[in-house]
Amino acid sequence: MTPVNIIIAGAPASGKGTQCEIIKEEFGVVHLSTGDMLRAAVSAGSDVGVKAKEFMDSGKLVPDEVIIGIIIDRLAETDCKEQGWLLDGFPRTAAQAKALADAGVSADCFIFLDVPDEILVERVVGRRTDPETGKIYHMTFSPPSEEDTEVIARLEHRSDDTEEKVVVRLEQFHSNVAAVKGSYEEIMVAIDGNRSPSVVSEEVMDSIKAALAKRTQTAA
Ligand code: AP5
Repeated sequence: MTPVNIIIAGAPASGKGTQCEIIKEEFGVVHLSTGDMLRAAVSAGSDVGVKAKEFMDSGKLVPDEVIIGIIIDRLAETDCKEQGWLLDGFPRTAAQAKALADAGVSADCFIFLDVPDEILVERVVGRRTDPETGKIYHMTFSPPSEEDTEVIARLEHRSDDTEEKVVVRLEQFHSNVAAVKGSYEEIMVAIDGNRSPSVVSEEVMDSIKAALAKRTQTAA
């Protein structure tokens, strides 16, 4: 069967990364998080990392020309072609959506997680990540087990996860979201992300399966 290609979008801390962990496991797709890729580039001190750092530190989007080429090239690699892909955090601007279309890259499903701004601030401030496994926690909503003392000791708090920076991140999101959604109207599924991760996940899974069924029907 042709592998599935998925885009997941939503505001900062709307739960994209949390849902991606589950989607990846279910469908075996290659998960490409532009946030994770850029943070890795910053840590490595690569050219891209140097260009991206000041934007990320202030909560702004990095320039389109820094990120577009990386993603287009990555999607052309064999694992993405063979396993399918899950784009998390891209496209985030009209120019990024256009670049995908111009490169002939299309998705089966565009999932949009809808969460009110006031909920997002609390999610950002309480988020912690395990740098070894990549697992995402929330110190109130989904904390690690108290017995996992090793995990608790190594948890990291992202430097852009502050109330001050999330205001900038939300501004950037709101000024671009309409254009991005407009590029995917035909395949968009908006999901209420202000429910428990497992309830959100059920709807996400159903939406992907429905998109696959539709694709099979169209091809028949
Ligand atoms: P990026 O890393 O993509 O950050 P983001 O979009 O701001 O998204 P987050 O990673 O903050 O949140 P998420 O939606 O994955 O939520 P999560 O599942 O962790 O980007 C960072 C920066 O990189 C950008 O600011 C920009 O500078 C740059 N960048 C990246 N892509 C770019 C691009 N394409 N163009 C230009 N610049 C780009 O959940 C958040 C918290 O909530 C967690 O603690 C989690 O446990 C909890 N949670 C999740 N779901 C639920 C739920 N249903 N109920 C309760 N709590 C929940």
